[in-house]
Amino acid sequence: MSVPTPEGVLQVISCSSPRLQSEYASLGHANGFSGRHKARLSLDRSEKNLRYRNRVSLLFNGGGIHWRKSRVDGFKSLICKCQRTESVGGLFAEEGGLHTSVPINGMVKAQKIRESELKQHIGRENEGSSLKAAHVVPDTVKVRRVHSESIEDEAWDLLRDSIVSYCNNPVGTIAANDPSCPSILNYDQVFIRDFVPSGIAFLLKGEYDIVRNFILHTLQLQSWEKTMDCHSPGQGLMPASFKVRIVHLDGDDSATEEVLDPDFGEAAIGRVAPVDSGLWWIILLRAYGKCSGDLTVQERVDVQTGIKMILKLCLADGFDMFPTLLVTDGSCMIDRRIGIHGHPLEIQALFYSALLCAREMLAPEDGSADLIRALNNRLVALSFHIREYYWIDMKKLNEIYRYNTEEYSYDAVNKFNIYPDQIPHWLVEFMPRRGGYLIGNLQPAHMDFRFFSLGNLWSVVSSLATLEQSHAILDLIEAKWAELVAEMPFKICYPALEGQEWRIITGSDPKNTPWSYHNGGSWPTLLWQLTVACIKMNRPEIAENAVRIAERRISKDKWPEYYDTKRARFIGKQARLFQTWSIAGYLVSKLLLANPNAAKILINEEDSELMNAFSCMISANPRRQRGSKGIKKRFII
Ligand code: GLC
Repeated sequence: MSVPTPEGVLQVISCSSPRLQSEYASLGHANGFSGRHKARLSLDRSEKNLRYRNRVSLLFNGGGIHWRKSRVDGFKSLICKCQRTESVGGLFAEEGGLHTSVPINGMVKAQKIRESELKQHIGRENEGSSLKAAHVVPDTVKVRRVHSESIEDEAWDLLRDSIVSYCNNPVGTIAANDPSCPSILNYDQVFIRDFVPSGIAFLLKGEYDIVRNFILHTLQLQSWEKTMDCHSPGQGLMPASFKVRIVHLDGDDSATEEVLDPDFGEAAIGRVAPVDSGLWWIILLRAYGKCSGDLTVQERVDVQTGIKMILKLCLADGFDMFPTLLVTDGSCMIDRRIGIHGHPLEIQALFYSALLCAREMLAPEDGSADLIRALNNRLVALSFHIREYYWIDMKKLNEIYRYNTEEYSYDAVNKFNIYPDQIPHWLVEFMPRRGGYLIGNLQPAHMDFRFFSLGNLWSVVSSLATLEQSHAILDLIEAKWAELVAEMPFKICYPALEGQEWRIITGSDPKNTPWSYHNGGSWPTLLWQLTVACIKMNRPEIAENAVRIAERRISKDKWPEYYDTKRARFIGKQARLFQTWSIAGYLVSKLLLANPNAAKILINEEDSELMNAFSCMISANPRRQRGSKGIKKRFII
């Protein structure tokens, strides 16, 4: 069977991906076909396929990709000339045959092979390629680094040095490029969350290609059959990371090609699904459109479907009573066990932000009316829940201290049955007179009072926190500078788990010892989120101070991943050096402080409809209701 489309006639053969089936169904419908076909769509049998693991994505631009065999460094390799990522269609795919995968020690080696290929072929093979000189001629990087005039220049050199290419196109940045480190683990991969500051830095520099490529290639990896001991969880998940792998082609030992190999957490330490990946992907997609002015990417059918799949996964009904997302421990930047399972603030802030970004980008169409309704309802409920129940300041703390417990009824004040004895000793000291913050997590009979930086900062950026709360969070950061910044910005969480608590909650994790890594370590990458939050609240001087502190040593220390000790005095015990998101985070801060207006690409302003609905819920809340007469109902969206 074939389907006529504006691009040509497509042959329908087979397809088992639900996303592609739905794409096909709508295309087929538009073209007079109906039903869900098991279909593969191919353009031109003579064209080679672009493979993602063992899936083949056929390009949809009527001949934008050409493959040829060439002899490079003594072995045959396929060089693909994927000319533009518009062509990374993803509209249609098939199940490909299994490849013999040859692990090649990650991207570094893959890149070396490509570089040697490219050195031979550059000029001949590369017409029209958007590849930048720095991607292919590493020697020039060395030369440039010697001449780096400022920390910023050095950071740019290092950032460009970390670029990963796929089919001659830049598609991301490696997590760390530490030549001194003997064990690579998975730091040779492109992490979705780690790429966000890199992507923003490139966007702010006017280099849009790498971000567009990243968005479209990771979209292709979305919800591929990730398996964990025979189990395949929900469709729509974005991988935590991916790497470029060289694989032998079937039946030809001497021929190889590049494939993108995603990790959905099935190989990660702890085997945790990266809930934040899809949320960051949506946030970056919006930033790309806003910064480049190119809305064609977000308007693409496959990109729209990608957004919807992430939303559907997040908005799916479960057993949960709360509007917050229920996740396992370690499902975000903190990707090891540290007691944040349940409803951690970081995920909620990213979720809220992604919902707002998606709402802006979703094309209005009949088919998505239900989704938009669900999204709007969730936004209202989520902001109400977080603003009301996660917020603490001196006043609220005192309220909790005097809580009645065991309240059974609809109008309970202490809804989650929090026993006042839970208020930790450190918090009595820590809470400033002026200021407040959103707690780390809320569960029945449990408040995690730790201060988690990313969750609080992104709540400011996304307007999940109210205006007053946002200012109060920055007030607290200023008041607690010695605890949260000290000698290197920014503490990932405060305070650290110690003693028996550390043993029980982390499972005696030697990487997460007190004041190290995720357990109260200090992460320079958080500078960029701090900067966006400060710019949004028109208080950039706070971020400027933090950047100044980082500049004292970050370059001398070789851009570590994290710092240890209460005051961030030591480079982290197991910290990678030349950690890309430390470099990119610094660059984004510098670029935004120089041009604060550009922070708009990341900020979500408070939505007036939401505010209306929110104030309506507030006035209906029994806690507020006690003593107040008559609730004025305003409209609910
Ligand atoms: C660590 C961090 C994680 C990051 C990864 C790569 O696992 O906890 O957030 O994405 O390293 O840098």
